Amino acid sequence: MSERPWLREGPLEHRVESLLAELTLAEKAGQLNQPANVSPGDDHDALAAGRIGSSLYASGALGGNERDEGLSIAAIEQCQRIAVEESRLGIPVLFGRDVIHGHRTVFPIPLGLAAGWDPDLVERLAAVAGEEAAREGVAWTFAPMVDISEEPRWGRVAEGFGEAPVLSGRLAAASVRGFQRSIGATAKHFVGYGLAAGGRDYDTVQVGENTLRNLHLRTFRDAVDAGVLAVMASFNDVDGTPMHANRRLVREVLKDEWGFDGVVVADWSGVGQLVDHGVAADARDAARQALLAGVDLDMASGCYLAHAEELVVSGAVPAEIVDDAVRRVLRMKFRLGLFDDPYPRTTDEPIGPTASTRALAREAAASSLVLVGNDGVLPLREDVASLHLTGPFVDDGEALLGTWVLDGRGEDVATPLAAFTELLGERVSHTDGRFSDLACHRTREAAVTVALLGEHPSRSGEANSVADLGLPAGQLEALRQLCDLGKPVVAVVFAGRPLDLTEVLRAASAVLVAWHPGTETGPALADVLFGRREPRGRLPMTFPRSTGHVPSSIHARGTSRVIDFSRDVWGGRYLDALTQPQLPFGFGLAYTTFEIGPPALDRSQVPLGGEVGVQVPVANTGGRPGRAVVQLYLHDPVADVTRPKVELLDWQAIDVDAGATGSARFTVSTDAFGYYGRDLSRRVDTGLIRLIAGPDAAHGQAVELTVTEPTATREDDA
Ligand code: BGC
Repeated sequence: MSERPWLREGPLEHRVESLLAELTLAEKAGQLNQPANVSPGDDHDALAAGRIGSSLYASGALGGNERDEGLSIAAIEQCQRIAVEESRLGIPVLFGRDVIHGHRTVFPIPLGLAAGWDPDLVERLAAVAGEEAAREGVAWTFAPMVDISEEPRWGRVAEGFGEAPVLSGRLAAASVRGFQRSIGATAKHFVGYGLAAGGRDYDTVQVGENTLRNLHLRTFRDAVDAGVLAVMASFNDVDGTPMHANRRLVREVLKDEWGFDGVVVADWSGVGQLVDHGVAADARDAARQALLAGVDLDMASGCYLAHAEELVVSGAVPAEIVDDAVRRVLRMKFRLGLFDDPYPRTTDEPIGPTASTRALAREAAASSLVLVGNDGVLPLREDVASLHLTGPFVDDGEALLGTWVLDGRGEDVATPLAAFTELLGERVSHTDGRFSDLACHRTREAAVTVALLGEHPSRSGEANSVADLGLPAGQLEALRQLCDLGKPVVAVVFAGRPLDLTEVLRAASAVLVAWHPGTETGPALADVLFGRREPRGRLPMTFPRSTGHVPSSIHARGTSRVIDFSRDVWGGRYLDALTQPQLPFGFGLAYTTFEIGPPALDRSQVPLGGEVGVQVPVANTGGRPGRAVVQLYLHDPVADVTRPKVELLDWQAIDVDAGATGSARFTVSTDAFGYYGRDLSRRVDTGLIRLIAGPDAAHGQAVELTVTEPTATREDDA
């Protein structure tokens, strides 16, 4: 690299502009090119010519469910050396990889993390994941996924933080902060991907801009406000315009309106796939449309490398558009410190899992478990005479890791069999569920059976939609057979999505939703089943009563004929089934019982721009200490557009001793009541607001608040 001291000194924008001024048009096209899996042998010449600005190491176009050979630190280092030492300008390559819910140490899938409702925990584990990945040469991850979805058939709900923008947005921001202590993060997939028709991945999306703004854009805004370095465009179209060509949303909203100055990266071949969408004639046309729309970096399609230069020379794309895209890529490289420190930070220390990352993984896994049914069999007694573990997840480490685990290893997983055997020794028996007669025999003999069933991770994640939300074939029948033997059976359901648990709840003595918990599954499960840790997970997505009830989510807006859930009458009820969800958003049992509310306000009126204090009493009415997750919801009875029946505003987890009373305190700003109205501008109205405090979205007690004009209030304040 030539001596250019300004590369390391001076204001960021000065460095970016100075470097940009040195690039030829061909080198600019190189900076916008992100081929997959570059190697020092095959790609030597392209690296040396500055034709590869970035690369991702990925198993393929259907990432997440295919293992690859793993990262080669040596290969990454050699590629980097070629770029830095042999290319004309010595610009380092930006290496990306999908580090989604852990790297070597694997934490619960994001939907499971969301069930913990704990931004601080999410930040800490994203920091660990980023640090582990950085030590293998990764500078950038394509996470967090912040797509809001009310569609459990869609396999990718496993990768997101659930259906409520406030929960998802806070966890997204926490995850960005955690990753970006060492690597770059990406908020994906921009935008509306969770609305894929029928829950079929990549399918078309019909959504109006009002719903986009009130729901789907919010989490991206949170990630941008948290300083995320990149945003990934989504594969879907929005009302006919594919996102990789969607100038209105990418350039005008994300970049111009929000002032996002980071990189918009294409999804895998998303630029080239504009041809498959049927909106571009060929690769050149696809590149032209994507550049104009504001997609900066071309992942895996090669269209920019092949056509960006000619598009500028011919005038089809203004030079300034390409310059802006390159500026963003260079800015990201500077922000990540690649010019100072381009090579992997290798040490002799093992990358993970280590004792401390295992402790974090155990905490994360335990807090993701949601108890949704319990006839009193849980918590189990540690002096239980005998315990039978059965089902496909008893000892299968790989299956407990979840979707999108490129670098975690099944053999590192502490399985339920290992953890329970460590605790109970010979009192544990097990069957893997293959022979139902043997499972029945052991169930009869054991004091308690724990049935570990549910979905294999390959049934969730990208391109893995299901048409039926029931358990995989045969599992319900097998569970029922065990439950009919008259012995207590605890069902632990591993899943990447909300499933239809109606019959499981009827059959089993207790039901725990476990998602895919990762490296420390076994110890975390033992912690919660034996009551060493209180169950504190709460559902981050609604569990519908059946597949036919989808969509069934917290965002259902008011209609002209509102359904009365308490009696299931009026409005859009089903004739052949109850309409309300099987398990509402926010639901989760503890080993004790709580009475929550009513909420009390520190004033009954609040001026626009002001704040109100809300105090919610929580009585522990059971016999054990426990942790309540007090949830605060909003209902706006009169607005400019139809609004959700309830909308999550805030929450607080509080520990309360048996028989004691505590209280949750919230400070709510009137800004939190804002929404986009008919004219698509954001507004906060004066008038009545209901604040509802309760244990989940379907239960709670309300208090009314009046929002007043700023001037009319001071003497009215209570
Ligand atoms: C997925 C992205 C992922 C990318 C790179 C795509 O198929 O949609 O979420 O980041 O592959 O692996």
